[in-house]
Amino acid sequence: MTHTPELELTIGPPAHGGHCVARHQGRVIFVRHALPGEVVRARLTEHDDDARFWRADATDIVQPSPDRVNHPWPLADAVLAGMRGIRPVGGAEFGHIELSAQRRLKADIFSEQLARLGKVDRAVTVEPVPDESSDGLGWRTRVGFAVDADGHLSMHEHRSATLIPVADMPLAVPVINRLALWKLKFEGVEGVEVAAGSGDDEPLVLLRTQQDPPGGLIRALADGIPGVSVAAWNPETGSLTQLRGRTWVREVVGGHSFRVTGEGFWQIHRSAPQVLTDAVLEGLDTRPGQRVADLYAGAGLFTAALAERGGETGSVLSVEGSPAASRDARRNLHGQSQVDIVQGRVEKVLRERRPHLDAVVLDPPRAGAGKDVVRAITGTGAKAAVYVSCDPASFARDVAYFAAAGWRLGSLRVFDLYPHTHHMESVAVLQPA
Ligand SMILES: C[S@@+](CC[C@H](N)C(=O)[O-])C[C@H]1O[C@@H](n2cnc3c(N)ncnc32)[C@H](O)[C@@H]1O
Repeated sequence: MTHTPELELTIGPPAHGGHCVARHQGRVIFVRHALPGEVVRARLTEHDDDARFWRADATDIVQPSPDRVNHPWPLADAVLAGMRGIRPVGGAEFGHIELSAQRRLKADIFSEQLARLGKVDRAVTVEPVPDESSDGLGWRTRVGFAVDADGHLSMHEHRSATLIPVADMPLAVPVINRLALWKLKFEGVEGVEVAAGSGDDEPLVLLRTQQDPPGGLIRALADGIPGVSVAAWNPETGSLTQLRGRTWVREVVGGHSFRVTGEGFWQIHRSAPQVLTDAVLEGLDTRPGQRVADLYAGAGLFTAALAERGGETGSVLSVEGSPAASRDARRNLHGQSQVDIVQGRVEKVLRERRPHLDAVVLDPPRAGAGKDVVRAITGTGAKAAVYVSCDPASFARDVAYFAAAGWRLGSLRVFDLYPHTHHMESVAVLQPA
């Protein structure tokens, strides 16, 4: 049986994940590119008869919300894409919403997740970052592209294998757009990641390929991109081959210098490293001589600040799972005898070492820390944990695990470090009740 691919829908509340909830004949439809209260015509993108819910993109706005604005990126605009018979690329799914309204929506979603999954009632404000541009563009220092069958830089339609060639990326910092990589043909390459370091540091272009070692075409490609470092990366084997310049970029935050290798983690918004470091230090109240752990430490962003705060009589246990990021951390914290860099999974390191701590910083990936890690943290003797999170749902679940161990949620700040997307970043303090 076939269904009408388009429906007229009245849009209900926002839901976590970048969509709003609508109902049609009793069935829930998650609608992207709409706003609460709008009436839209929506194109169904997933609509199996026996599915619990359907998905749709709003492609024609019948009654717009007062918070609706023109999308700053035509390729990510569902209405314009719909006119071309394509779907918008992912990555700017809130671009049709005025910036302060984006933050209000995110605050509602955060509070709802915290209440439902964390059992904590808390009104939340999502803060703009201090030097945010008025249009919310030009902030991404890390961008990943797919490469289509013709070798052109592309991005995926949301939840689809379909690739749409791109000719700009308005969320990226200007130095990335100026490279105009879309003019090149990336033969033999499956994806291209670009990292822009701090200041005048030259960007790194990472060519994702299964060719190991990279062939002549890829080497020629590296020669054709002036003013950048180029490396080839095979995610299957983890091998990183220098093609030109360096295999890493330099980042400078608050007087600390960090080397970040091509495939290593670094916060995406150009202001995020400073904003988050400041919020972590504000939340932690560490004094010289304290024993602190930085869990999920990446290249050592928070470790460096914690080591400085704790001084030579303090100690920082810095744990990171990725061997490449941990190698970076080792180099970045070289010579700081109070820092112990450990490469390994947080759950295993805490189980094996059973450290005695005064405080813990944790910044887990999107999936959160989980019950076992939370239980281990609450058993270290720490008087506080500062939890940096990029996902309100996993954060809220972990808050409930902390509560089960007798800890409560203290201060909470949420930052709009991903304008024009549904993502946000929070820094919370948890303490024994
Ligand atoms: C959100 S990043 C935070 C990095 C760092 N705090 C920063 O701000 O630059 C999460 C980090 O956790 C690491 N990671 C993910 N799962 C892990 C695990 N189970 N144990 C240890 N590290 C893990 C990832 O490699 C990544 O570097």
